[in-house]
Amino acid sequence: MLRKVLPVAGAVATALLALAQGLTPLAVAGLALGAWVLLLAVTLIRYPPGGAARQEQEGEVTKASERLPPSDHVGIDALPDPALVVLGSWRAVAANPQARQLFGPRVGSADVRQSVRHPAVLDAIRSAMAGDSPAIREVGALGHADGAFRVRAVALGDGRHLVTFTDITQARVAERMRADFVANASHELRTPLANISGFIETLLGPAAEDEPARRRFLEIMARESGRMSRLIDDLLSLSRIELDKYVRPQAPLDLPPLLADVGKTLAMRLEADGRRLLIEVADGLPQVIGDRDQILQVLHNLVSNSLKYGHSGTPIRLSAALVAGSARMDEMVRVSVEDAGDGIAPEHLPRLTERFYRVDTGRSRSMGGTGLGLAIVKHIVERHRGRLEITSRQGEGTTVSFTLPVVPKRIEPAEPEAAASPSAVAPAQPARLELRREP
Ligand SMILES: Nc1ncnc2c1ncn2[C@@H]1O[C@H](COP(=O)(O)OP(=O)(O)O)[C@@H](O)[C@H]1O
Ligand SMILES: [Mg+2]
Repeated sequence: MLRKVLPVAGAVATALLALAQGLTPLAVAGLALGAWVLLLAVTLIRYPPGGAARQEQEGEVTKASERLPPSDHVGIDALPDPALVVLGSWRAVAANPQARQLFGPRVGSADVRQSVRHPAVLDAIRSAMAGDSPAIREVGALGHADGAFRVRAVALGDGRHLVTFTDITQARVAERMRADFVANASHELRTPLANISGFIETLLGPAAEDEPARRRFLEIMARESGRMSRLIDDLLSLSRIELDKYVRPQAPLDLPPLLADVGKTLAMRLEADGRRLLIEVADGLPQVIGDRDQILQVLHNLVSNSLKYGHSGTPIRLSAALVAGSARMDEMVRVSVEDAGDGIAPEHLPRLTERFYRVDTGRSRSMGGTGLGLAIVKHIVERHRGRLEITSRQGEGTTVSFTLPVVPKRIEPAEPEAAASPSAVAPAQPARLELRREP
């Protein structure tokens, strides 16, 4: 303001001096002083001190930030989180769009004690005003949001305070999930451990001389320790998969031999339950991009589930077919595992891939389940940028399918013979393969 006034006042004073040539020095000085006082009065009427705040109070929110020096304006608007600039009088003089969204359009010019109101936020600002800066508080529901926020108030050193609000809801959810996971994992391990130590005590005491009881107890102990080691294997698998979840697999993979391998590894269990594994591979199935061991683990978990939760004597269908690509999506191969079992009620479907979620915990445990199989499947499929889908009809059965990206043409080997290899064109296997027949 003064910058505008000074040159004008100077010019007027000089003009007066010119006019007053011939007057006494004292009269000249008096005239010049009079001009200065007059100009100052006029200026004060046009730009009263605190007039900006008064105008902001009248409603024009954007004007508050317009009146800030240009550098401050850009600074607060460029912040990703809601931010306010607050004076020592509690009045805000600027708010970025995120803050206006959170607290309403007038927050940039209102008294924060009325517009923000939250006691913890006001406490943080009060601390910053008292020189305890930065002041940090964590608060729940704020303005129009239900989540959790970290509020940070810092004195800018010129009577203004910058208050920022960082949404930490996601971090809180993740923390909660970690805590739940540790609690669940400990519980899952503690149960078999408690059983084992209980039987050890019985064997050392009352059943010491009871030969048939000893055999029975040792069998249970072997089963329980098997459960513990399966659980630890699954937990380690999960953490390994999580570690490289952002590292996309690179290697091309032939699915048909892999599907056949699953049949071979599970052959004994299939036979014991009078099951057949029907493997169906579409003609000309292209190679996919995949980590062989991880895809094998996915297939193993899915076929194991069909074995555990399907009906004895019914077949399990394992199939792979090409899904046509679109403008937005590359070509994918869909692999499906289908069983005829009890099926899963719709309300459970969305939660099946959560760690330790089971429809029937007792049944899962008695079948040797850890509750982590589908969580592992989901993580592996996500790492491959595929999609997992579970469909089920109660009383009819369940189909779990996932997609895998097809090897893009450009990274296929350059030699013509390699491009025409059986794996890249048609699989050597017949389109429908039966690995096991009912005895
Ligand atoms: N094919 C299936 N048919 C019926 N229920 C299934 C099937 N696959 C999974 N489920 C249900 O989903 C739950 C979670 O599966 P999973 O994560 O593999 O854990 P687990 O098999 O160790 O219990 C199972 O406990 C079961 O209730
Ligand atoms: Mg399972």
